[in-house]
Amino acid sequence: MMIRVNDIDFKLYMPESEIQKEVARMAAEISRDLKERNPLFCPTLTGSFMFMADLARALDFDAETYFVKYTSYIGMQSSGSVRSELPFPEKCRGRHVVIVEDIVDTGLTMKAMLQALQQLEPAGISIASFLFKPTSFQMDFKIDYLGRSIPDDFILGYGLDYDNYGRCYRDIYVKA
Ligand code: IMP
Ligand code: MG
Repeated sequence: MMIRVNDIDFKLYMPESEIQKEVARMAAEISRDLKERNPLFCPTLTGSFMFMADLARALDFDAETYFVKYTSYIGMQSSGSVRSELPFPEKCRGRHVVIVEDIVDTGLTMKAMLQALQQLEPAGISIASFLFKPTSFQMDFKIDYLGRSIPDDFILGYGLDYDNYGRCYRDIYVKA
């Protein structure tokens, strides 16, 4: 199946059924490991809003959730610098924090998040990312909860966008 977003053609890459299978597995792992710690979930806007919505409903506990705005992509290219548009809540101190990302690409965004968060002295930090591009990854942190590793291709859907379009598809598509 093909879709067209902003004059670019994309083809089906990961159908909703596969996405939901991975989300359920990740939610079970996170529930098992972290439920007792009352973790604070910090998903990054905007890409992870779909993933967080599904993850939150698949967890077996009611997780406090605080969305954080970080941007590094302009068009189809990583801009190389990360801007934060919301201050972190002071409530991170002493809490176990789960950073929730739609995708880790170069890792720059996550690295900036980790550095900002560490200054707030959380009890611990876990990283949950639905997707990961190992070939463009340039950092050294580990992803604790991962949906799937994918090739270094531009994808969209399930929260991921091309200039803010294409986020609402239930499936994930790759540039044709
Ligand atoms: P990083 O800082 O290079 O790891 O990029 C992370 C952010 O870039 C993600 O949170 C996404 O918002 C965005 N991004 C990375 N790869 C893609 C892609 O293939 N499609 C759409 N957005 C992407
Ligand atoms: Mg993102």
